Amino acid sequence: MLKIDLAGKRALVAGVADDAGFGFAIAKSLAEAGAGVSVGTWPPALNIFMNLMERGKMDESRMLSSGQLLEFEKVYPLDAAYDTLADAPEDIRTNKRYKETGDFSIEGMTRRIEADFGRDSLDIVIHSLANGPEVKKPLLETSRSGYLTAVSVSAYSLISMVSRLAPLMRKGGSFLSLTYLASERVIPGYGGGMSSAKAALESDTRTLAFEAGRKYGIRVNTISAGPLASRAASAIGFIEEMVDFYKANSPLPEQLAASEVGNVAAFLSSPLASGITGTTVYVDKGYHTMGRTVPPET
Ligand SMILES: NC(=O)c1ccc[n+]([C@@H]2O[C@H](COP(=O)([O-])OP(=O)(O)OC[C@H]3O[C@@H](n4cnc5c(N)ncnc54)[C@H](O)[C@@H]3O)[C@@H](O)[C@H]2O)c1
Repeated sequence: MLKIDLAGKRALVAGVADDAGFGFAIAKSLAEAGAGVSVGTWPPALNIFMNLMERGKMDESRMLSSGQLLEFEKVYPLDAAYDTLADAPEDIRTNKRYKETGDFSIEGMTRRIEADFGRDSLDIVIHSLANGPEVKKPLLETSRSGYLTAVSVSAYSLISMVSRLAPLMRKGGSFLSLTYLASERVIPGYGGGMSSAKAALESDTRTLAFEAGRKYGIRVNTISAGPLASRAASAIGFIEEMVDFYKANSPLPEQLAASEVGNVAAFLSSPLASGITGTTVYVDKGYHTMGRTVPPET
């Protein structure tokens, strides 16, 4: 039987703070395939996330097919807006949600992973995070600072993670991020430069695949996912409408499950996908192929 076998592999999923988003579903699929999984969690969400887990509120979603609970090897504080601790402004470093966490920068997380597991210890990195402070504003009304923050947190962070984490990775390692169709089609309401950030993320996926492929022998891909009512998407404000719209107008008229993205992520992160790099893979029930809404009688 051909199966996705990640036994003996170690994964980091950056962007998990509850059990509702793509990051959690991907972590679960990677664990189902046998990988050891650590997560990177945004400091403002870290305490709530740890409480949810400790109080058993996520036990149902953490249940694996083996009957065991998904256990994270490590939970690292991570604010992907900062490459080093020195880049974080004073008010962030002294903020009550940050100051007890230690070095929450991308560099800090890298050093912790190296201290915990050593070099040549990492096989899979998932980038499942995004943030655009002005996402509700049309691009025409977006400030320069809001735009640059969206691109910095949601796209540059991938470059920073590849450059810092790739040296810890074993040959054949895989990076994977999450993107959205707004990079190439107009999605009114998905503003603040988030569409620009996703376009940058997809373009960078190709260039990083070339550069990191040659330098480290690792792969870089991105999944363009259909809509999911995650915490981040719900905050934008029209996610239920998008879920219904996709359901009505996709080749497969069904709601996308986060686990479907999780399973493709496990495949792309596995040696079975050793020939795939620099690619945007659509996991959206085929919606991206459509050129008009589906007439009612169809
Ligand atoms: N939900 C959708 O409809 C949808 C569709 C396509 C792509 N995506 C993408 O999927 C990825 C995961 O998002 P999701 O929708 O599953 O929501 P989510 O809320 O589960 O994940 C987003 C995560 O990013 C974290 N985050 C925000 N700012 C951060 C920062 N500065 N540093 C570190 N972490 C930070 C949040 O704490 C959260 O855990 C994102 O890249 C998103 O753009 C989502």
